[in-house]
Amino acid sequence: MNINNAVALVTGAGSGLGLATTQALVKAGARVVAVDLNESRLNQSVSSLGSAVRARKVDVSDESDVQAAVNLAQEAFGALHVAINCAGILGPCKTLSKSEVFPLALWNQVIAVNLTGTFNVIRHASLAMSRNEANADGERGVIVNTSSGAAWQGQMGQAAYSASKAAVMGLTLPVARDLASHGIRVVTIAPGLFETGMSADMPAKVAERMLDHSLLFPRRMGRPEEFASMVQHVIDNPYLNATTLSLDGGFR
Ligand SMILES: NC(=O)c1ccc[n+]([C@@H]2O[C@H](COP(=O)([O-])OP(=O)(O)OC[C@H]3O[C@@H](n4cnc5c(N)ncnc54)[C@H](O)[C@@H]3O)[C@@H](O)[C@H]2O)c1
Repeated sequence: MNINNAVALVTGAGSGLGLATTQALVKAGARVVAVDLNESRLNQSVSSLGSAVRARKVDVSDESDVQAAVNLAQEAFGALHVAINCAGILGPCKTLSKSEVFPLALWNQVIAVNLTGTFNVIRHASLAMSRNEANADGERGVIVNTSSGAAWQGQMGQAAYSASKAAVMGLTLPVARDLASHGIRVVTIAPGLFETGMSADMPAKVAERMLDHSLLFPRRMGRPEEFASMVQHVIDNPYLNATTLSLDGGFR
């Protein structure tokens, strides 16, 4: 799908991978509805991007918030062609620590944002996309989800996070099957360790250990613009569908 003139919804757009993706899409000629739970940071982050961006406070796990964001894309820009799911939280906690068990409320919150939030956006975005005129390839929309290398190689304290990200990988194929007849592709990206607000929140010791022991090459964190570049390729390449792509410097 041609990015130039496409209309995209980007979640988690106030920071890190979502912000870099928003910036790259606007540079490539797209118009973007940029949403995030953290409204002040979102407005500050996208304020320099001008009229190609509409910012809105959205909790991806909330039905009406997501519906309103999709409506905004249609009202402001006339359609929705692309949805990028970047909103996510870590919620680190050990399963058992000093006789305390992992709080179920925290578990539910991580699943609600990372998994249910992703599916909530997929549901509403795909309905809007299904109403688009198909392009010459028969395409009406592209959905990009963000999983994580933690789906395969979760660290201590990442039970909820890894489970949520493995589930995002798991839904990729069935959702792509469901949406194929509508001309909508679904691809998931599984980043390794990237330089963002989320990785900055990890204990330094954990991040250093991961960088020292698990990276092949290049031996550094990923840059958000490298994620954005992968998103652009997924949108651009009509033969990519129903798969999860690792972007991790060979992290094992
Ligand atoms: N940074 C990494 O190393 C890394 C690695 C693998 C996967 N990921 C995934 O990439 C995605 C982007 O993360 P990031 O590294 O840019 O982190 P980040 O913390 O910089 O950005 C995540 C954004 O999501 C927003 N958000 C949180 N809950 C939300 C909700 N309920 N509704 C809407 N927005 C919400 C936050 O406010 C934040 O702006 C996440 O899904 C994360 O799990 C990150």
